[in-house]
Amino acid sequence: MERIVILTGAGLSAESGLGTFRDKDGLWTRYDLNDVATPEGFARNPALVHEFYNARRANCLAASPNPAHHALARLQRAAPDSVCLVTQNVDDLLERAGAADVVHMHGQLTRALCADCGHRWDAPQVMDPSAPCPACARPATRPDIVWFGEYPYYMDRIEHALIQADMFVAIGTSGNVYPAAGFVQQAAAAGAATLELNLEASTTAGLFEDRRLGPASQIVPAWVDEVLAGKHGR
Ligand code: APR
Ligand code: ZN
Repeated sequence: MERIVILTGAGLSAESGLGTFRDKDGLWTRYDLNDVATPEGFARNPALVHEFYNARRANCLAASPNPAHHALARLQRAAPDSVCLVTQNVDDLLERAGAADVVHMHGQLTRALCADCGHRWDAPQVMDPSAPCPACARPATRPDIVWFGEYPYYMDRIEHALIQADMFVAIGTSGNVYPAAGFVQQAAAAGAATLELNLEASTTAGLFEDRRLGPASQIVPAWVDEVLAGKHGR
């Protein structure tokens, strides 16, 4: 099978009941991202940040993967060496749908990080700002989430995959946040075909060769079926 890099955003999990960020009544219309998604916000008020992520973690635990998550896991199982699943999402719905080795470039709700010594561990369901780090015992626990102004994880691996890709597919992302929003240009420059699957055209829609519009739970399984039937899904 062709080498496919798939980038997913909040739209992949929208039909599982997890909010997006910039749609009507999205998370950033209800919270100031400077308060809950920046290192400065965490330094000012760690309790507010933990409250925000504890609520998102609870929503995630109560949610279930939708047909789009299951379809991507099915595609990856069919050709694990050809499919690279990169996500901006911090939920674990792809893993719960059976996907493996998901590249969480913005971190994960299920992981905790020590702001002092860098130790990482599985997050408890409810994180407490005064909880001591298991490694250094200092009370510097934070969610293992990449905040604005911080550098995303796994960028070397992602850029290597983009150079090698025959196809780049973006699913359910508005194309507003870099470096993820620039992946389509990197893939196209390396000769990959590019496809956007979204409910509506994203900010970077004009950079994609092809686009299919509709809810992820419908258009992603249909696209995966085409790829698995050898129609390349273009
Ligand atoms: N099916 C497919 N796409 C959908 C659906 C759906 N059911 N519902 C919404 N969408 C699309 C919207 O059209 C939009 O393009 O999902 C996208 C959601 O955009 P954003 O809310 O901006 O989410 P995302 O692109 O993932 O944001 C990127 O910004 O705030 C940071 O770190 C955060 O990872 C996030 C990053
Ligand atoms: Zn520590």
